[in-house]
Amino acid sequence: MSAFKTVLYEKNDHVALVTLHRPEALNAFNIQMRDDLYEVLSAIRDDSDIRVAILKGAGEKAFCAGADLSEFLSAPAPVAARQVRYTRDVWGLFLSISQPLIAALHGYVLGSGIEMALCCDIRIASEEARFGLPEVALGIIPAAGGTQTLPRTVGRSRALEMLLTNRWLSAEEAYQTGLVSRVTPRNKLLATVEDMAQHIASLDPLAVRAAKEAVLRGIELPLAEGLALERNLVAKLALRKAAVPQQ
Ligand code: COA
Repeated sequence: MSAFKTVLYEKNDHVALVTLHRPEALNAFNIQMRDDLYEVLSAIRDDSDIRVAILKGAGEKAFCAGADLSEFLSAPAPVAARQVRYTRDVWGLFLSISQPLIAALHGYVLGSGIEMALCCDIRIASEEARFGLPEVALGIIPAAGGTQTLPRTVGRSRALEMLLTNRWLSAEEAYQTGLVSRVTPRNKLLATVEDMAQHIASLDPLAVRAAKEAVLRGIELPLAEGLALERNLVAKLALRKAAVPQQ
């Protein structure tokens, strides 16, 4: 267990468990959480012993209720606060991690909460989870990639409806739109995610990382280039496996 102020970090065998831990503020994302996550995500990225990581929220009510409104909509001014946020690019760091990240989503998943979940590779929600992007209704727009990652995940029209109307989705709707890939009862959420993480951790880590890289890089490419990328990764994987003695 770690000593960060807003995040708990545990590592069990090959699985990292990261818990957003400001339950009194519904795990709202503040500057301290940005700094803590930056440290934790860097540690995960650089730890070859970790094969998969889970991101979850503490407390009963929320995964994350978005940016901390007391920081982001008061002093310092939103623009200045955002500038501070950019100086440590947590979102770029999320996307640079080669191990799979699984988000366990319960309760309120709002604003930065959705954006963090969208930086993960697999999203599992509990039945009572609610998903919303309140930014535009507050006179700002998402700044943690949401305007880009959401339409790539649920399509342009559904993303724009969420952004422009601030309509919140139920877990079932999130499943129907592809925002999450599975819905579980609340009391089974963590066990479901941990089972999935253990399963992925039991697989060949080189193959797992290569599959993630193929999908994440390839999805931005024209098909022919994506197929070339895949061929390249197949060859690289064969070489790496030949070089590393199998466990
Ligand atoms: N930033 C800072 N504090 C927040 C927060 C946020 N985004 N969301 C919730 N909190 C705090 C509340 O101020 C409250 O603190 P208090 O007990 O000291 O008064 C505590 O978390 C519990 O929230 P509360 O509003 O009492 O819970 P609720 O169940 O009645 O309502 C929400 C839950 C999520 C509907 C409501 O908290 C909300 O609308 N939050 C803001 C969501 C938002 O706009 N996020 C920003 C996106 S850019």
